[in-house]
Amino acid sequence: MCGIVGYIGPRSAAEICLAGLKRLEYRGYDSAGVAVISDGELDVRKVVGKLANLEEALQAEPLVGAPGIGHTRWATHGKPSVVNSHPHLSTNGRIAVVHNGIIENYGELREQLTGEGHKFVSQTDTEVMAHLVQKYYEGDLREAVRRAVLDLEGAFAFGVICADSPDELVAVRRFSPLVIGLGEGENYIASDMGAIRPETDKVYVIGDDELALITRDDVELTDLALDPIEREVFVIPWPAAAAQKGGHKHFMHKEIHEQADAMHACLAGRLSAPDQPIVLEGLAMSEREIKDLRKVVFTACGTAYHAGMVGRFVMENLAQVPAEVDLAAELRARDPVVLDGTLAVVISQSGETADTLVALRDLKAKGAKVVSVLNVVDSSIARESDGVVYIQAGPEIGVASTKAYTLQVLTTELIALRFAEVRQAAEPAVLRSLKEALLDVPQQAQELLDREDDVRAVAQAYCQMANSLFLGRGVNLASAMEGALKLKEISYVHAEGYSAGEMKHGPIALVDPNLFTVAIAVAGEVYEKMIGNIQEIKARSGPVIGVANDNDTVIGNECDHMIWVPPCAELVSPITVAIPLQLLAYHIADMRGEDIDQPRNLAKTVTVE
Ligand code: AGP
Repeated sequence: MCGIVGYIGPRSAAEICLAGLKRLEYRGYDSAGVAVISDGELDVRKVVGKLANLEEALQAEPLVGAPGIGHTRWATHGKPSVVNSHPHLSTNGRIAVVHNGIIENYGELREQLTGEGHKFVSQTDTEVMAHLVQKYYEGDLREAVRRAVLDLEGAFAFGVICADSPDELVAVRRFSPLVIGLGEGENYIASDMGAIRPETDKVYVIGDDELALITRDDVELTDLALDPIEREVFVIPWPAAAAQKGGHKHFMHKEIHEQADAMHACLAGRLSAPDQPIVLEGLAMSEREIKDLRKVVFTACGTAYHAGMVGRFVMENLAQVPAEVDLAAELRARDPVVLDGTLAVVISQSGETADTLVALRDLKAKGAKVVSVLNVVDSSIARESDGVVYIQAGPEIGVASTKAYTLQVLTTELIALRFAEVRQAAEPAVLRSLKEALLDVPQQAQELLDREDDVRAVAQAYCQMANSLFLGRGVNLASAMEGALKLKEISYVHAEGYSAGEMKHGPIALVDPNLFTVAIAVAGEVYEKMIGNIQEIKARSGPVIGVANDNDTVIGNECDHMIWVPPCAELVSPITVAIPLQLLAYHIADMRGEDIDQPRNLAKTVTVE
């Protein structure tokens, strides 16, 4: 899951590519490179490590000319090294390629091309593409790329330039995301819109097996048979500034603090008042379909999966529809039974996660209707869904997902409430009180954000500890797992999210004074049980951070430290509880001096299975 960018026009391609790569660095940051055509020759700079190293190399030895292509890498084949970083060149050094994705049949192609005399220098899968393009190049770069792509199996987005076709940039995709940015006398390619937003707000979002021949003044889109394709220009709805830190130390901190406003945006036009019906544009389901629903299958990865756990809980609890939730990477192996009237709810921030896309295709092939809950507009999952309900979070750049999570939960709860409404599965009074609770959430979120200092003080007390447990029950089991994931992925503290009821069946063996426990004990069905579980930990001298409703002295007296949250309906509490747990993880990681926006070994969008 790398980031690619390209430029063709009168300005310095290296500068524009570097700026674009900086906005793509969350996609991978173990090596980077740029290639430009300068005076009929290809000129390349490649480095290992962060983009800052490439910036330094370009300052030391600037690259002039255009077109150009750039890449920031998340290694899949071949360890991070200069020779394995992109762009990769052909044997004659006239063709350069950048790639995001995986070429599954690269082994046999490499053998064949080596047999034909092509010289390989790296351990990557990508390099075969540079050699294939040289093999097919007879003066027409697009044709050479087209023929090369027909030999490939797997996922890819490519940017290709050739010193012998200096007025062209060619791009093609299958499965991996790619947009074409439209300028005046200049054009761009990028893995996502954010990379080129400061340059243009107009893009083509191209589909699978679509090829783009790009010059300064034109973009020609075709399929792999070279039949022309018409695509609508998509105007990026958010300002360039949205992709900046806005004075925050990290994107993650900025995005945590954007949640209250984003929740307003997510509710706008969907839930106006407690006595009003829920309106979900894009759901693409008739009332008949909702009434005839027999099963709902939620599927997703990582943080989005935790939102799916809440969705499943609320769907059964409120709409009385049998529901399941699957880790997308596990779904195919489970081979779920898909009855008539099965709805698949696919959740993803990026809309590009490969495991989730494969799970979607699997459920669709089995006959399920697919509605997705997404953030990135017109992403691959969006294009393959029957209906899409966008969470309206705006760009999320920090690798650790925060605002997208709370809005995925909010959106999923709106869907379950809509179904409960149409199916008359819950008492009108219950629906009204839950709508009231959801309408209060943005203000409660702001209140929790204003209490950041309290959470920072708790973080201070535990930031040196190496092990932790996050406990919850019922609808907040997902909150415990999400809280643990946040801490793990940015602070590298070992954190396990666990059912508090399950704890005495094993993990309680871990409890000692060096392991801290975060216990989610807000008011609700499982409150009493949580008190018991906290006492079990305390009985073994484990320090406990309680997460409970304001002024709850019962929990307060049991715990070493408290994180208070305003009271709300239990089914809605996963949204509010998430915010202080995000802040706890953030401040522990910050106090440990970790690279919060680009945690080691991770990437924001996982486009490989
Ligand atoms: C969460 O903080 C992680 N970045 C990761 O678990 C993420 O949620 C997962 O990769 C799914 O991504 P998606 O929502 O873009 O599909």
